[in-house]
Amino acid sequence: SRPIRIAPSLLAADFARLGEEARAVAAAGADWLHLDIMDGHFVPNISFGPVVVKALRGQVDIPFDVHLMIAPADPYLAAFAEAGADLISVHPEAGPHLHRTLQTIRGLGKQAGVVLNPATPVSAVETVLDLCDLILVMSVNPGFGGQSFLESQLGKIASLRQMIDAHVARGGQPVALEVDGGVTARTAARCIEAGADVLVAGTAVFGAADYARAIADIRSAA
Ligand code: DX5
Ligand code: ZN
Repeated sequence: SRPIRIAPSLLAADFARLGEEARAVAAAGADWLHLDIMDGHFVPNISFGPVVVKALRGQVDIPFDVHLMIAPADPYLAAFAEAGADLISVHPEAGPHLHRTLQTIRGLGKQAGVVLNPATPVSAVETVLDLCDLILVMSVNPGFGGQSFLESQLGKIASLRQMIDAHVARGGQPVALEVDGGVTARTAARCIEAGADVLVAGTAVFGAADYARAIADIRSAA
């Protein structure tokens, strides 16, 4: 079985103590820190930008998994790269040219990801797979933490697992398969079974009294 990485989403943390919260989940065993960037336009919520990402970069050593829910994303890619992002993921709907956006992220020396909303089909990523280090499946509609997991996305995760495995078998680069939204120890088991290898969890980690235990519970769901 493939190694599972857990990426707590800071969106569910105490925003008055972000640095402390980032250090706490890193110490609790988080593999990546998931950073949700929202512009109040692409999604109906506003979170934080590159200035906050940069301030957090000095706090922990784990990779920063930056999920851009902003449109357009292109004008801000360099700022997030300079702020310390390791992976930068974009939604195809943010436009205008997904292929160019992925090339730009790679050109900045960062890993590139494509995010599929619940209504966005697998085919949206098929023709740019060569430029992807990560595919992120939204198992809620983006914009807010604390929503319920959409079971309807499990089939899409399984299709993407087949697509990625076939790509790697043809000599293609590895592509991580991440799930974001409503992940708990229970839904994590379904995601892993379907083929995911990175799990984002906001509420399930930051809403727990013991972060280390919450992360361990999700990890052991495999
Ligand atoms: C939603 C964000 C998610 C969110 C997950 O737009 O992309 O990362 O924070 O939160 P939970 O785990 O609470 O669903
Ligand atoms: Zn996210």
